[in-house]
Amino acid sequence: MKILPTFTLAVALCVAATAVQARPLEAVRKDGTLLIATEGHYAPFNFFQGKQLTGFEVEVAELVARKMGLTPQWKTLSFDALLTGLQQDRWDVVIASHAITEERARAVTFAAPHYCSGGTIVSMTPTLRSAGDLAGKTVSVQTGTTYAAEVQRLPGIQSVKNFPADTDARNALVSKRVDAMVTDRFVAKELLRKSPKAGFHLGEMVTVERIAAAMALGNTGLADAWSQALQAVMADGSYAKVSQKYFQEDIRCPAGR
Ligand code: ARG
Repeated sequence: MKILPTFTLAVALCVAATAVQARPLEAVRKDGTLLIATEGHYAPFNFFQGKQLTGFEVEVAELVARKMGLTPQWKTLSFDALLTGLQQDRWDVVIASHAITEERARAVTFAAPHYCSGGTIVSMTPTLRSAGDLAGKTVSVQTGTTYAAEVQRLPGIQSVKNFPADTDARNALVSKRVDAMVTDRFVAKELLRKSPKAGFHLGEMVTVERIAAAMALGNTGLADAWSQALQAVMADGSYAKVSQKYFQEDIRCPAGR
C-alpha cells in the first residue's frame, strides 16, 4: 500500500494544524519578542534598502512593538502567504497594507487602522483616468489584493492580469503588456516622485480603504494591545514624524474612520 504513508502524513498535518494556538498577549509578553510578517516589495510601506527591511509600516510597527514593551522580529514572505501564516501560528502579526474587508475579517482579527488610502489607476496614457475609461482595456494588479477583486467587477473590463508582486504588475505596465494598473495611491505617488520622466499618469481612485495590521482570528488580546499602542504613538508625535518622513503629510485615517 503506497497510499497509506501519505494519508497518515496528511492526517498528522491536520491534527498539528488544529492543535496550534495563536500566541495570546501573555505568551508574547513573557517571550518579549513580537514576530511580525510583511512582504518587503511594497515601497514606501515595506521594502528593502539593500538588505535592510524598512518603510513606513516597518517603522510604525517598530514604534508600536516598542510601545508594547516588545522587541520586533521580522519575517518577509510573498503577499499571498501572509494571512494564512497567522492561522497556522507562524507569526503573531501581519502588517502589509491589508485593507480591512468583510471577507478578510472572517479569517483574521484586524487591529485599528494605521492609515487610510485607496487603489488608484496608473497608466502611461493620459486619457485613461477613470474606472469608465478602463472599459475594453487590460489592467494589471497584484494577486490577492483588494484591487484584483475590485477591478474584476468594473463593467466592460477586457482582462485583469494578476502578478505575484506589485512591482511585477508595474513592469507589465512599463513594458506595455497592459493598458493600466491599479495600486495604492501612495505607492503610485512615490513611483511618480522617483521616476518623474518615466511617463506614468495617475488616474482616479477606484477603492477607498482603511489599512490595518492583522492577528490570528480571535486573538483580540493582542489586537487590542496593538491598537492601544498605535493610539499612543499617534498621540505622542512619533507616528506623525514617520509619516512626514515618507509622505510629507500625515496619512492617519481622519477622525471617525
Ligand atoms: N491595499 C491592498 C489590499 O488590501 C494592497 C495591499 C498590498 N500589500 C503589499 N504588501 N503588497 O489588498
